[in-house]
Amino acid sequence: MSSTKEDSSKLGQFIPLHYHANMLRDNARMTGFKQAIEKVVPQGGKVVELGGGTGVLSFFAAHRASKVWCVEKNPEMVQAARRLLALNPFAEKIEVVEADAMTFLPSEPIDAVVCEMLHSALLREKQVEVIDGFKRAYAQRFEKLPIFIPEAVILAVQPVHQNFKFQGYYAPVPMFYDPLVASDETQGLGDPVNYNMFFYAQELPKQFTCELEMPIHAGGTVNALRFITKNVLAALVAENCTVDWFSQYLVLPLFSPIVVQKGDAVRVRFQYQPGDSIETLTRSIAAVKK
Ligand SMILES: C[S@@+](CC[C@H](N)C(=O)[O-])C[C@H]1O[C@@H](n2cnc3c(N)ncnc32)[C@H](O)[C@@H]1O
Repeated sequence: MSSTKEDSSKLGQFIPLHYHANMLRDNARMTGFKQAIEKVVPQGGKVVELGGGTGVLSFFAAHRASKVWCVEKNPEMVQAARRLLALNPFAEKIEVVEADAMTFLPSEPIDAVVCEMLHSALLREKQVEVIDGFKRAYAQRFEKLPIFIPEAVILAVQPVHQNFKFQGYYAPVPMFYDPLVASDETQGLGDPVNYNMFFYAQELPKQFTCELEMPIHAGGTVNALRFITKNVLAALVAENCTVDWFSQYLVLPLFSPIVVQKGDAVRVRFQYQPGDSIETLTRSIAAVKK
């Protein structure tokens, strides 16, 4: 079944409460955002969170900020956020606003925007579209753009051999992996190659059109590409470090696997727009031995 344009525009925008529980339990995600917010949000500052969900990142922000607008489009999550925030300290500083984050404007200038509508390879969720829309509206009303958390993203792709056998059943389907847990199901046959990097405060990409040459360092069969998404939540120049959070690795099968030897190179082409479906990216991939 192919997705319609309307389905695609809704992709990732309505996340059920039980999935929010997984996000609350994701330690790397929670620690990363908590640290970045502590470092970046000025004491007494003003913050907007775009896509507030359960309100947890607004709660982190309210430890330092004097006012937080927690903007959420899904009415069920608006109710949930109000209920959950009321069970916690600092609720009086947080205003949960039922609105589309793409067009929401705060009534006064703010210091920071927090936005976690992040999916692997920036697919499905509307992070880029939402921040772009917010920036346009904000720039028409106020002078200086706020700081963004995340501040930047680095996107990379790697040629791999993936085990697509499940109890003897061969099924080359998209697979997700926790980046912090080593898996022997995926074997890297070449190093990851960066295909894009951008700062949210700067011009945002409308499309990723990639043509890459990937050197192979181990023989085998390249039957998939692993997409790696490094979210730079904060770049702490004075401390010479960044606070990073990796989205789940996404492994996408190739339609035609390629037998390779060490020293070969594989030429890969793909294109997609931020927020597109996984199927759109999968269908666009073309890979051949050079
Ligand atoms: C990945 S969840 C993150 C929730 C929360 N920020 C957190 O970190 O736990 C993204 C949230 O953005 C909301 N969302 C998606 N598109 C939106 C939009 N255009 N305007 C406002 N909220 C949106 C979803 O309903 C969902 O609650």
